[in-house]
Amino acid sequence: CSRYVPCLQFLGELLSPELMANSTTSLIESFKQAGQGQVFQFFDDLDAAAQASLIAQAETIDLGEVNALVEEHVKGAHDSALNLDGLEPAPYEALPVNGGDAAQWDAAWDAGSAALQAGRVAAFTVAGGQGTRLGYDGPKGTYPVTPVTAKTLFQVFAEKIARSGERFGVTIPWFILTSEINNDATVAAFEAGDFFGLDRESVHFIVQGLVPAVDYEGKILLAEKGKIAMTPDGHGGSLRALVRSGAVDTMQAQGIDIVSYFQVDNPIVQCIDPAFIGFHVLGQSELSSKMVPKAYALEKVGHFCVQNDQALVVEYSDMPAAMQEETTPEGGIRFNGGSVAIHIFDREFIARAGGSDTGAKLPFHRADKKVPYVNAEGATIKPEAPNGVKFEMFVFDALPLAKNPVIIEAARADDFSPVKNAEGVDSPKSCKEDQLRMFARWLKAAGETIETDDTGLPTITFEISPRFAADEADFIAQWAALEVKPELKDGVVIE
Ligand code: UTP
Repeated sequence: CSRYVPCLQFLGELLSPELMANSTTSLIESFKQAGQGQVFQFFDDLDAAAQASLIAQAETIDLGEVNALVEEHVKGAHDSALNLDGLEPAPYEALPVNGGDAAQWDAAWDAGSAALQAGRVAAFTVAGGQGTRLGYDGPKGTYPVTPVTAKTLFQVFAEKIARSGERFGVTIPWFILTSEINNDATVAAFEAGDFFGLDRESVHFIVQGLVPAVDYEGKILLAEKGKIAMTPDGHGGSLRALVRSGAVDTMQAQGIDIVSYFQVDNPIVQCIDPAFIGFHVLGQSELSSKMVPKAYALEKVGHFCVQNDQALVVEYSDMPAAMQEETTPEGGIRFNGGSVAIHIFDREFIARAGGSDTGAKLPFHRADKKVPYVNAEGATIKPEAPNGVKFEMFVFDALPLAKNPVIIEAARADDFSPVKNAEGVDSPKSCKEDQLRMFARWLKAAGETIETDDTGLPTITFEISPRFAADEADFIAQWAALEVKPELKDGVVIE
């Protein structure tokens, strides 16, 4: 029985039929006592396999946790408006081009590269989400994104991690958060791609927990007669998944104490950024974050703030518009630090924030959603309006728990262009164009001439393989070392 998935069918082979029946009866009884007996209302109509599967699913549910969530977020007064008293923009380390201290960035780069060479760094991708906005059938990491060869998000990250390992003379382990919903398809995609050239021993899949969705009375909903409606517990669930799965112990055994966290939907992220790692190390930080200046005052991003000497991220939805639009005496946006979900975690901090035996667990948030469900008559209903509540943890809620948090500025163009929506903002098209702009900038920085429009978009479609260079500085060095340089024309792949 791997992870914390129950193995009732397996147990069934070991236990006598009477013992099995008893454990089923007591499980159903515990749901009844918790006021959730409706989960088994169609149990007698199910065949043996469907019964076993419902039982296995029900076994994963922490009824105490669910009932506490229902009390707090469904039955309680859930209008928990954030206290904005004393809220200030968080200080951050500015990029040298924006007035930051270049010598300090160089020192950070050196410290980060030393940590990498010492084998202290792992990559960590959160890929357990459902990607509903993109509307793609499959794990989001298997979505093709690059402009010429249509490499998938997973392949892009794999190649970046491999290149960074090569650059610093180590194998960088890669931990990938999946959920019960997409884990098998994710692993199958890695198998089919032969782990994209990585040593398969260095890739670790971590399955995050699921939480049941409930109706407005707090009753757990059924997606089918024999299936509970469950959703992943949010990217904040990644911390407890790393602890529960034993990944934190694996890291410790391998001498890893620096965990570079990024989301599955952002192919231009610098998965392994030596300067970022260096600032984290030099600052003795438990949790470091990248901020990008907001594109405009009301941009829908979280804001890096401080309150009572604690760093925190305040969602745009929790900050009044007037506050988001406040300006500095110089005329800039006052709350300017946008969160782009790129962090570095200290391993021991993960153990603390994700551990269940401390008071430091992250809070759950309520999201009202349209949850398809089976009604009391057994009919499947696809609601037109939100009818239920899902519960999620947010990883940035770990920030106030961390000692010495460090925030550094990043250039959006070098780190953030996610694929969230099928069209428009943050879509495959906008992401492809941002990749092309980045490739063109790298070539120009390496001294090449390449025709671009006013937005920096090149007139040719081409690609720089992440296997060739992991960032601009790497590209300049690699390009200079190329004895025969490829002709820069439509369709070329620099690899
Ligand atoms: P999003 O907030 O974009 O959610 O996740 P999503 O589920 O991927 O997409 P939508 O909202 O349904 O369209 C941001 C990142 O956090 C991960 C996602 O995989 C993505 O990398 N995530 C989200 C998890 O790993 N687990 C979760 O439970 C939720």
